[in-house]
Amino acid sequence: MRSLISIADLTNDEIEEIFALADSAGKLRADKVGNGQIMATLFYEPSTRTRLSFESAMQRLGGSVISCSDMKASSTAKGETVADTAKVVSSYADVLVVRHNWDGAVQAMAEHAEVPIINAGDGGHEHPTQTLCDLYTLRQEKGGLKGLTVVVCGDLKNGRTIHSLVYALARFGANVVTLAANGMELPQYVIERLEREYDYGFAPVASGDLNSVVTETDALYLTPKQPHQLALYTQVDKVIQSQLNTMATGLRYDAFYMTRKQKERMRDGGANISYPTIGPEFLQEKRFQDTVVMHPLPRVDELSPELDKDRRGIYFKQAAYGVPVRMALLQFLFRSNRAPQRAAQKAGRTYRSPEPIGPKCHNANCITVKEPVSTERRFRIYFADHIGALILGCDYCDHRFKVDYVGNVKSKRYSSYDSVLGDTIRAWWDKGELALFDSIKEAEELSYEPTKSSAQRILMTEEEIARALAEMSQQILTDCRDPDRLLILGVRSVGAQLAQRIANEIEARRKRRPELGEIEIYGAGDELRRVGTSDPELGPPSLKDREVVLVDDVIYTGRTVKSALSIIFRSGRPQSVRLAVLVDRGHREVPVKPNYVGKNIPSSEQERVRVRLRGEERETTEQVVIYSIINPSVSAQIVVNSKPEKAANH
Ligand code: CP
Repeated sequence: MRSLISIADLTNDEIEEIFALADSAGKLRADKVGNGQIMATLFYEPSTRTRLSFESAMQRLGGSVISCSDMKASSTAKGETVADTAKVVSSYADVLVVRHNWDGAVQAMAEHAEVPIINAGDGGHEHPTQTLCDLYTLRQEKGGLKGLTVVVCGDLKNGRTIHSLVYALARFGANVVTLAANGMELPQYVIERLEREYDYGFAPVASGDLNSVVTETDALYLTPKQPHQLALYTQVDKVIQSQLNTMATGLRYDAFYMTRKQKERMRDGGANISYPTIGPEFLQEKRFQDTVVMHPLPRVDELSPELDKDRRGIYFKQAAYGVPVRMALLQFLFRSNRAPQRAAQKAGRTYRSPEPIGPKCHNANCITVKEPVSTERRFRIYFADHIGALILGCDYCDHRFKVDYVGNVKSKRYSSYDSVLGDTIRAWWDKGELALFDSIKEAEELSYEPTKSSAQRILMTEEEIARALAEMSQQILTDCRDPDRLLILGVRSVGAQLAQRIANEIEARRKRRPELGEIEIYGAGDELRRVGTSDPELGPPSLKDREVVLVDDVIYTGRTVKSALSIIFRSGRPQSVRLAVLVDRGHREVPVKPNYVGKNIPSSEQERVRVRLRGEERETTEQVVIYSIINPSVSAQIVVNSKPEKAANH
């Protein structure tokens, strides 16, 4: 028997096999296929449906159930780790069904248990058995999954049911339209996995008919397998936008999948955040006469009770399918002695730090952070050449983050990561010599020394930087249709500092400060943040109808800007997005043209341009410098510049 941690642990054929078993749940019950099996349910978080339907399923199969009525009354309260609990309970049962509030906790338990584990929901990460119920319901209602269009709505960021569901819908060839509450968009790591493993792309579309029936939300994005991502970096291209809108208007919506606000995963309980609702208007719209409404439940107030009486409100049926589907899953696992086959291989290879200090997952709710003793520090490495970055993906929670510092365990040298070093880094990794660090401090604590220096040239002095920022700020104000709707959005981290300077300049001219935000392309927290407010209840800045100026320090290939634009368009519909960069290196792989440029500095691939600002680690003067990467061979020490660097390379 094998474990089920992610929906990716089952192939499409296996899911179909489970559905065929669910179709004959009556026979499974009559045959008592679970006779003699014991299932233990360990729920560290509340549940009605998942727990009771699993327990009912096991009993109907002729098996029996042991349970901890309240995990707070278990030895967890005395400090027992999930690893020890999993090991111990394994000797009392043949299968464990676990729900935990930490992302990746069930994976960690599976690594210590002696029997298979089924993930009944881990933090905001995945809920694969709910997805089996959702797919089964859709299949029963619509006859199949391929080609369906499903609108997922509400808290797409924290909703674990959504994450498992969109991966599965993509695999079965359905279209997914996302209609997120403000600040609760699908996380970037989910989007990337959809793109990388399932070849799905997102494009922003606006569709009035959805906005008219789902109140309090506005952004809509569609996920066809077509190359509409172009719209992500063609600044409000009216022709493409209009084509997309027409396409959205022509869509037949097969299902609305609504979710509740996951208050328990929000810092302040999400008290003041507005949230979409589906009300009686939905029932009156002719376009939705065949659109079913689903919800994993429990609901709070996002679905009007009027829907309960309508044939399209199928969420109670969806909950009822929990028993036959889980009976089928248990039978499938009982008789499965095949080695597990992942539906989609996790991309990248595994990295384990050869040093006692090394990168940590940036997701504060990850089991590796909450209870490191039950886990190993294990990541996937992705050479994200499209944005010139080295990315680590946590093997437990799937969150991704950028690695800033690389070192060689033999030479005990470190430097900031540069994509030109990609082959060297791969060679170190193959030989087990690659050490990665979150900070210079970590590297130096292990007695690593910075790499040697090469010649560098100053391209902009402090005065020139200040002058360029002043001129760009003036031009931004001149171009702005309504300065009160201006949002200055800096790409973290140097771009965000420059955005702050531009906001200061604009404030000095207008005597009013424009709203300021920052955007993080690879972080584990919010991708969009307000800057200059200590009130967390305000959430991310609103993008709707704003004149956004995106600020970055250096533009070269344009890929970083493309990623930033993807986040912007996924998070709302601004009136316009203009781009301000201090340095334009003059080479582009994606069609992005900055509107405001401090200085054009044509430079080759081997050259690196770095903007050094005061406030960055150890910088005392401000300047833009250029230097070369010289022969980054395996044997040579990496030769970059004299100072340890913090800023990302461009
Ligand atoms: N859908 C779902 O997981 O419900 P419970 O939280 O009641 O198990």
